[in-house]
Amino acid sequence: MSTSSKLTEPIIRVTDVSKVFGRQKEQALKLREAGESKYEVEQATKTTVAIYNAHFEVKKGETFVLIGLSGSGKSTLLRCLNGLVEPTEGTVYLENTDISHMPKRQLQEVRRNKIGMVFQNVGLLPNRTVIDNITFGLEIQGVSANEREKRGKKALEMVGLNGQAYKRIYELSGGMQQRVGLARALASEQEILLMDEPFSALDPLIRRDMQKLFLDIQGEVQKTVIFVTHDLDEALTLGHRAAVMKDGEIVQLGTAEDILSQPATGYVKLLVQDVNYGKIRLAKDAVVPVETAAYEYESPQVVLRRMRTNHLSTIFVLDSADRLLGLISIYTVMELIEAHKHDLKGKEMTQPHCVNPDMSLQEMIPLFTDSHSPVVIVDNHHRLQGMISPNTLIANLTERTAVTEQQEVKSYQMEVR
Ligand SMILES: Nc1ncnc2c1ncn2[C@@H]1O[C@H](COP(=O)(O)OP(=O)(O)OP(=O)(O)O)[C@@H](O)[C@H]1O
Ligand SMILES: [Mg+2]
Repeated sequence: MSTSSKLTEPIIRVTDVSKVFGRQKEQALKLREAGESKYEVEQATKTTVAIYNAHFEVKKGETFVLIGLSGSGKSTLLRCLNGLVEPTEGTVYLENTDISHMPKRQLQEVRRNKIGMVFQNVGLLPNRTVIDNITFGLEIQGVSANEREKRGKKALEMVGLNGQAYKRIYELSGGMQQRVGLARALASEQEILLMDEPFSALDPLIRRDMQKLFLDIQGEVQKTVIFVTHDLDEALTLGHRAAVMKDGEIVQLGTAEDILSQPATGYVKLLVQDVNYGKIRLAKDAVVPVETAAYEYESPQVVLRRMRTNHLSTIFVLDSADRLLGLISIYTVMELIEAHKHDLKGKEMTQPHCVNPDMSLQEMIPLFTDSHSPVVIVDNHHRLQGMISPNTLIANLTERTAVTEQQEVKSYQMEVR
């Protein structure tokens, strides 16, 4: 989950929204207010409080996630945002206009021009061409054929399907169809997009592709997206912020870090238990500083002494601007001494894998499997920030709190050849 300081302007405001399905609406809300659970209220009144007292804002350009178990009220709350569901209490503002009690006609205008929606089964028209599906919404809006073609093709390119424009939907694989669905949503005029579990039906590999694609495209188009999922991994990967829902209530609202590090309730803790930390935790979260390094201008004797004092069999070598040049072994240092060299310059060094601080631990795993070197974190100027050992990596893929243990690095550096 990334955060951006640009995201400040609220575009949607939800104030104290409740939604009750059934006859005894007031009675149900009273019982809920008195502390009865959703289930108890249902038993007593045969009425469902699907949303209770929801309160939040979505900022312009933000990907805001609604997450929770089945029946927690995600879809109902999402549908309040475009007027498909009218709240029993409370108000939804779209850029300061109350849309929760708007006449139908006007609402249709809002949906056409401002808020689009993507459903779980993409709802493509099988006998139409790919491009006609993508530009269907534009067609309804009366956008010219030329313009539709132009925008349709751009959207197709974004989802990596150029060349498929004139195929029929039934000629595409499931994953490709999903991409078309995404392209259609992104080609639309509306600056706000509601997505109700758009990737849930996909198998895990395609799902991951789609999430990646979503992030790429969202980085470019920067729509305001409200995204429903019951998968916390997905929520934390895609969303700037997430609202965790339980029994119609928002039980926690915050960034990934907030939710992972301080789960507000036992329910959130349960959700958090299943998280794949590898995707969310980044290199910079697990990095361990390197305490002992050598400069290329230093004399081999000095370096040898430092390595012996610190029990190191290899040492990182830096240039005078702290840029990493590589790793050098104790044997090489001894060779330099024998050859009467005054510094470490010009000697060939081992090149460890270098990654930037924002790489996810998940992406780093292959780097550990094909090399005995540690993985090194460097900044944009190739300055050494620290390293990650296999032990730290494993600890961080499994532990709830990030682990960075100095001790591990020392023992690992001794093993590195
Ligand atoms: N049209 C309706 N009429 C009556 N009850 C409804 C209606 N729509 C939803 N509900 C009830 O409201 C509650 C919230 O449902 P909702 O569909 O919003 O949950 P959800 O979080 O989207 O679940 P899922 O993950 O299964 O899609 C549930 O108890 C559901 O039974
Ligand atoms: Mg739902």
